[in-house]
Amino acid sequence: MILFNNGTFHIYNNDISYIIKILRNNHLGQLYFGKAIKHRDNFDHLLVEKATVLAPCVFQGDLDFSLEILKQEYPCYGTGDYRDPAYQITSDNGSSITDLVYKSHVIRQGKSSIEGLPSTYGDNVETLEITLRDDLIGLEVTLKYHIFDNISSIIRSAEFSNIGDKVLKINRAMSSCLDLYDSNFEMLTLDGAWARERHITTRKIKSGIQAISSSRGASSAMHNPFIALKRPNTTEHVGDVYGFSLIYSGNFLAQVEVDAFDVTRVIIGINPFEFNWSLQPNKKFHAPEAVLVYSDKGLNGMSQNFHNLFKNNLMRGKYKGKSRPILINNWEATYFDFTEESILKIAKTAKQAGIELFVLDDGWFGKRDNDSTSLGDWSVYLKKLPNGIKGLAEKINALKLDFGLWFEPEMVNEISELYKTHPDYVISTPNRNRSYGRNQYVLDFSRTEVVNYIFNKMCETLDTANISYIKWDMNRNITEAYSYSLAETQQKEFFHRYILGVYSLYEKLTNKFPNILFESCASGGARFDPGMLYYAPQAWTSDDTDAIERLHIQYGTSMVYPIVSMGSHVAAVPNHQVNRVTSLKMRADVAYFGTFGYELDLNKVSPEELEQVKKQINFFKKYKEVIQLGDFYRLQNGNYYSWIVVSPDKKTAILGYYKILAAPNPSFKKINLVGLNENFKYTCNNKTYYGDELMNFGLVLETEFTGSLQSDSFKGKYTPGTDKGDFTSQIYVFEANI
Ligand code: DGJ
Repeated sequence: MILFNNGTFHIYNNDISYIIKILRNNHLGQLYFGKAIKHRDNFDHLLVEKATVLAPCVFQGDLDFSLEILKQEYPCYGTGDYRDPAYQITSDNGSSITDLVYKSHVIRQGKSSIEGLPSTYGDNVETLEITLRDDLIGLEVTLKYHIFDNISSIIRSAEFSNIGDKVLKINRAMSSCLDLYDSNFEMLTLDGAWARERHITTRKIKSGIQAISSSRGASSAMHNPFIALKRPNTTEHVGDVYGFSLIYSGNFLAQVEVDAFDVTRVIIGINPFEFNWSLQPNKKFHAPEAVLVYSDKGLNGMSQNFHNLFKNNLMRGKYKGKSRPILINNWEATYFDFTEESILKIAKTAKQAGIELFVLDDGWFGKRDNDSTSLGDWSVYLKKLPNGIKGLAEKINALKLDFGLWFEPEMVNEISELYKTHPDYVISTPNRNRSYGRNQYVLDFSRTEVVNYIFNKMCETLDTANISYIKWDMNRNITEAYSYSLAETQQKEFFHRYILGVYSLYEKLTNKFPNILFESCASGGARFDPGMLYYAPQAWTSDDTDAIERLHIQYGTSMVYPIVSMGSHVAAVPNHQVNRVTSLKMRADVAYFGTFGYELDLNKVSPEELEQVKKQINFFKKYKEVIQLGDFYRLQNGNYYSWIVVSPDKKTAILGYYKILAAPNPSFKKINLVGLNENFKYTCNNKTYYGDELMNFGLVLETEFTGSLQSDSFKGKYTPGTDKGDFTSQIYVFEANI
């Protein structure tokens, strides 16, 4: 619902309210964002103005009205507000002073998409567009707000229009700005590196600026384009939290600034560092969408709003709202060393175990025997695959398995046919060294002809072979950023144009091949962001397949992203990234909470283990709708991890419980479940419980080992590395018998 009375906009649904007021200077002021409050015709009493002696005043002698102090909706630079602004424009005389004032607004049902950018969509949504204008420089900015009726979230974006006759330089165009009334918050971010993505960092916010960002050309493994501000006492289940997520895969900034009056300004959008856009007369520039979630139900409440929005109103295509095929990927099984015969051998055993999709990873094209060659040459390597991709796909299909294929569309190796014919396609700066990353260069996707070239090359394979899945990889970041197709004055448009090029290729491919399931990947999870989910409804979460490290990664990732989007595989031990040995049971118990698949050669496991794999696959087939489409709640992290998924009808719940290190003589372990129906009677391991018991008293977990393995009663009873030692897990299934 969106209402306008007395110069005030109230955007609300049953859960949240967002209130904006047209201020005395015709700029927009921010009155409130939080739990829903009753509508009334006038909210002026919520406006807090504060007199300060030295603050610059908009009106002479009116010390109450200073932009330095007011909470604003889309603040500008240079007229009294010294905090970082939401936008900054330089006009033709070199000045960056602007004065955007309210001109008009529209309230309507539905929402439109943003040309060239990923964006949310749906029927149950209302839109407010407020147009602001600076007549002196011919600038119009339309602030867009969208509210879905069943999600505690406001979606924001901003569209810049040049309505004058001079070029305007956009130095900064944030998607959202929010001024909160105090600074008693902790900032939660998802940070890491290759193979340890999206670990949770929490810090108390302090006076001044604290921020995360990327300037790598991709959202990155180092920082995810997301921050949350939570009250210090907010837990997973209770308390206030604001979440901010950017639907964008390129350079971003998410910044929190606490000013002298303890007001907290949160801005999120394209990173202004190395960004500048020349907005020509009659042209528009659209900043990406930001999602602002408010929850008073703790971090899980915030996460579920993100999950529901991304599952229902961002992901598209055939797999939206559907569980995903159980796949096997040959990367960790073979790396580059495979033949058609060895691939078919892996596929055959995988089929016998119940797997649904075989994915051929890196190494199938050009003369790719290692990572120094052939990226860009997207035609089959006949030495390895004499029958081509078509022939292999037919043989895989004959086994009654679907077939999927790996690409890395944005890259080229110097040793390649593509590089020989088009060295100019590579991103590089004139007369400068070109840095290598994994022996490869990045193609200049800001150029349409480069994107079209790669599209056509990929289609040669996709048009002929029966391919139902693509893993789109991206294994290095951009250096020496520059495009030969851009004028000198436009070079700082490069990074944004690059990601628009990536999106355009995704759009072309998903339109032409609507039945293909895309999984995005960037050396694992270095571009796991909402922008990608619009095109690829799942992402390879991390190159780290170790069950223990995956607990940290998947727990952190679930802060924002639904588990149906998290690529998670069972791999061989000792684990290839950390050399750790965990049981096959624990590896599957962790991988179940994601898309689920295998990444090893099942011919190399023992017959007993193969039987166990079959059972795991059967278990997952039985429950994958519940796991992937149900409501996911995090319960605990630390030495003990647990999480639970509950089916929408609450009749089935699956709890994953994990222990990292065993402790001597440990205390009792009991865990309070959430999300169940308090009146349902649930059965688990032949015991029955009412929902209210499981949620209030809790589930008493199996006792851990306590004693001495050398004592007569325990000698020879427990095998190291099984249920009574380090690295153990349990899955509990609760079925309601009503
Ligand atoms: C990085 C990916 O994350 C891996 O899964 C694998 O596809 C390799 N690239 C292949 O080069």
